[in-house]
Amino acid sequence: MNILLTGGCGFIGSVLSQRLLSEGHNLVVVDCMWFGNFLQPHKNLKIVQEDVRNIENIPMDGIDIVLHLANVANDPCSDLNPKLSWEVNALATMQLVEKAIASKVKQFIYASSGSVYGVKEEPRVTEELSLVPISDYNKTKMISERILLSYKDYITIQCVRPATVCGYSPRMRLDLSVNMLTMQALTRKKITVFGGNQVRPNIHIKDMVEVYLHFIKMGNKAPGIFNAGFENLAIMEIAQKVVSYVPAEIVVSPSNDPRSYRLCSDKILATGFKQKHGVDDGIKEVIEAYKSGVLIDDENCYNIKAMKKITNFNEAVSYN
Ligand SMILES: NC(=O)c1ccc[n+]([C@@H]2O[C@H](COP(=O)([O-])OP(=O)(O)OC[C@H]3O[C@@H](n4cnc5c(N)ncnc54)[C@H](O)[C@@H]3O)[C@@H](O)[C@H]2O)c1
Repeated sequence: MNILLTGGCGFIGSVLSQRLLSEGHNLVVVDCMWFGNFLQPHKNLKIVQEDVRNIENIPMDGIDIVLHLANVANDPCSDLNPKLSWEVNALATMQLVEKAIASKVKQFIYASSGSVYGVKEEPRVTEELSLVPISDYNKTKMISERILLSYKDYITIQCVRPATVCGYSPRMRLDLSVNMLTMQALTRKKITVFGGNQVRPNIHIKDMVEVYLHFIKMGNKAPGIFNAGFENLAIMEIAQKVVSYVPAEIVVSPSNDPRSYRLCSDKILATGFKQKHGVDDGIKEVIEAYKSGVLIDDENCYNIKAMKKITNFNEAVSYN
């Protein structure tokens, strides 16, 4: 298949790119490279450094599938510049799907977020439940899903609502709960847990990548919205798992983040997807990468710190 992957230089995109290439796909990665580019050259890989908002520069000719991951990818970064976040996350998504349809692309897979559910007491948060997006980030994801689904008669649409991802990537993120707590234990021998009772779903990066491959294989047989998260854990439970591998003190501080929800992923499992990895694997990978020297606790691994460092954030990416 000829695949266009936006955000292919990001945390998930870097692992996904390698996996798609290993499956024999031809890949075009479009990314503005806010956090750099860690992709290895490959004969079937073309990398285009571009802002997805510059829609006329996004190469869509001959593409079979668009995998759209390029977004301002968490709550604090979206709050830093809400206008930019709406432009990138929602407006550019609409422009991309319209160009995809005009270019006869068959399938459009979107990285939404499980955080669209906001605060949910229900033990089984299925795709049918109402959304309570709290932050601008959550809202841009919800609106993007709705925009995309309005085009479902013209192109196969899959919106994936992933849990928080854990594990190692060459473009590492240490602002994600499992990875962050593990790095704190390694470098400070102390873990700070905000609140602790909030339940969050988790998914290992290798399973995350396989979810996208699964939908490529399913094609138009499984359209719609799918949760993707397989381990619902309170933040304190994650901290306790971490200290079972790396002894550290757990310090509890008040939290200003009320999001708490469990994801039920029965719908994707019913399509034949099988989870293979877990939070424990993610913790062990971060430990191994740190101890082997491959991973350092660098500011670039924290999206908000990296974004704040980009001068003139309002003009953070070139936009014609
Ligand atoms: N990591 C998670 O836990 C998680 C959970 C749920 C959903 N998601 C979603 O998955 C996607 C990928 O997340 P990630 O963790 O890899 O994030 P990331 O921040 O590591 O990667 C995002 C990539 O998109 C690129 N990008 C951002 N805006 C762009 C623009 N305007 N034009 C071109 N490229 C642009 C960035 O340069 C970066 O390489 C995002 O849409 C995110 O919201 C991630």
